[in-house]
Amino acid sequence: MSFPIQRLRRLRRSEALRGLVRETHLSRSSLVYPLFVCPGTQVKEEIHSLPGHYRWSVDRLVEECRSAFDRGVPAVILFGIPDTKDEMGSGAYDPDGIVQRAMRTLKRALPELIVIGDVCLDEYTSHGHCGVVKDGQIDNDATLPLLAKTALTQADAGADLIAPSDMMDGRVGAIRRELDAHGHAQVPILAYSAKYASGFYGPFREAAHSAPKFGDRKSYQMDPGNQREALREIALDLEEGADIIMVKPALPYLDVITLARRTFDVPLAAFQVSGEYSLIEAAAHLGWVDRKRLILETITSIRRAGADIIITYYAKELSSLLS
Ligand code: PBG
Repeated sequence: MSFPIQRLRRLRRSEALRGLVRETHLSRSSLVYPLFVCPGTQVKEEIHSLPGHYRWSVDRLVEECRSAFDRGVPAVILFGIPDTKDEMGSGAYDPDGIVQRAMRTLKRALPELIVIGDVCLDEYTSHGHCGVVKDGQIDNDATLPLLAKTALTQADAGADLIAPSDMMDGRVGAIRRELDAHGHAQVPILAYSAKYASGFYGPFREAAHSAPKFGDRKSYQMDPGNQREALREIALDLEEGADIIMVKPALPYLDVITLARRTFDVPLAAFQVSGEYSLIEAAAHLGWVDRKRLILETITSIRRAGADIIITYYAKELSSLLS
């Protein structure tokens, strides 16, 4: 009989003892802060479904990034909201597009801040899909050169990391070749490898006005029921040259994070997406949960599951709480 010899409660008696034996620690050095950038000056427009987050014009974005960096946030990921959208998503790969302009300005103002470029067409296409539409279908191969061009213009603008989130087959390879051919062999790729077709992206789509105008994203994003397929997606991205892999969303897919962690010896990121944030905010607003506890508990869980890097709308706030 192990009891009364074994008493696990002995090490839970004080915060100091619990700290001594804690297996998972959070640190601000693993956080990435997502931000939305829009045209204009002096714009700070709150996103209704993402309270506490804003569409920033480049000038205000720089201020926000400086305040995050000063608190210890090492990295930001940028999403663009262009003036106009078109069939081919040309705003994504315009060398003078909104994200490219923001990157140039940011890298000049805050050279030490890691600036990550989300590479996708959905924020820039009039139909809201992540690729080119032909005969009502998302054309995989016609999309690849546009994604490669997007990555190149972002790298030219100073992006430190390129993060394709479109889920087209072969895009990591296409981007790697384009970057290498134009003097950007040193720019790493953070691939959204296992990105699920998720209802948790709802608030993001309001923020970026990027909900698809017809159909859904199930023909390119992963089916929520699949776990083994995530390993195939990741393996292919690594073969094509990904440096960091990602699972997204985070909390509903902790099993996928753990499996990826155990299977691949590469840095692993997880994205606590907009809906994960807004659920906590809404319940806290109603007084039903303790907001701060939920933030720390969800981030701890994502880290315990195996993520090295966490992209979260709580990055700035968390940075003030952590060392
Ligand atoms: C696509 C993209 C999306 C998110 C990140 N990149 C939206 C989508 O696939 O519909 C979602 C992030 C979030 O919900 O916070 N560019």
